[in-house]
Amino acid sequence: MKTMQPAPVVVESNSIEETEAIGRRLAQALTSNLVLALKGNLGAGKTTLTRGIVAGLGIEARVTSPTFTLINEYTDKAAPHRLLHMDSYRLGEDPQVATAEVETLGLDELLDDVEAGGDQGLTVLVIEWAERLASLLPKDHLEVRLDQGDLSTSDLNSDRRTLTLTAHGVHSAAVLEAFAMIQPLYFRAR
Ligand SMILES: Nc1ncnc2c1ncn2[C@@H]1O[C@H](COP(=O)(O)OP(=O)(O)O)[C@@H](O)[C@H]1O
Ligand SMILES: [Mg+2]
Repeated sequence: MKTMQPAPVVVESNSIEETEAIGRRLAQALTSNLVLALKGNLGAGKTTLTRGIVAGLGIEARVTSPTFTLINEYTDKAAPHRLLHMDSYRLGEDPQVATAEVETLGLDELLDDVEAGGDQGLTVLVIEWAERLASLLPKDHLEVRLDQGDLSTSDLNSDRRTLTLTAHGVHSAAVLEAFAMIQPLYFRAR
């Protein structure tokens, strides 16, 4: 039997600052370790959102694209949490190639860390270009799709972004519900 999943939450952003604020609220909604699967084109705002999540976890750090390192880890002496930031962009468009390559890079262990939970703080794994690693994503993950423009026009010249958050699994469902409580403007997709 398939468990009930909450309807996706759709949030609009009109600036970098708003996207960062959405990320901070997402971090505030986290109650357990989680994988966040970010999907969307170059410039959609995935790294910007990640910046907000890092800040929301109380981690003071300059978040950059882990384009060459593939995985960056952010921690802070003043915060119990840690954020792992992964970017599959460099692995290329072919999901099979990307998946094979990332398996050699120890993603498994990172996923085990996220699964294990425990400790005092949270471990959050953010994956940019998660669509390329679909087969490696744990069953329980929060999917965040970022689209340029609004959903109907996708005007690439504007600062508008549409974020669609979809829960997969019980932990991500709880996070999505908590997020919906603190995110001021959103609508339910269905
Ligand atoms: N509402 C918005 N949210 C996030 N980024 C925006 C927004 N409007 C414009 N931008 C611009 O889009 C780009 C997003 O970059 P980035 O977050 O690195 O995207 P990605 O990681 O998806 O490639 C930045 O140049 C940023 O200035
Ligand atoms: Mg990026």
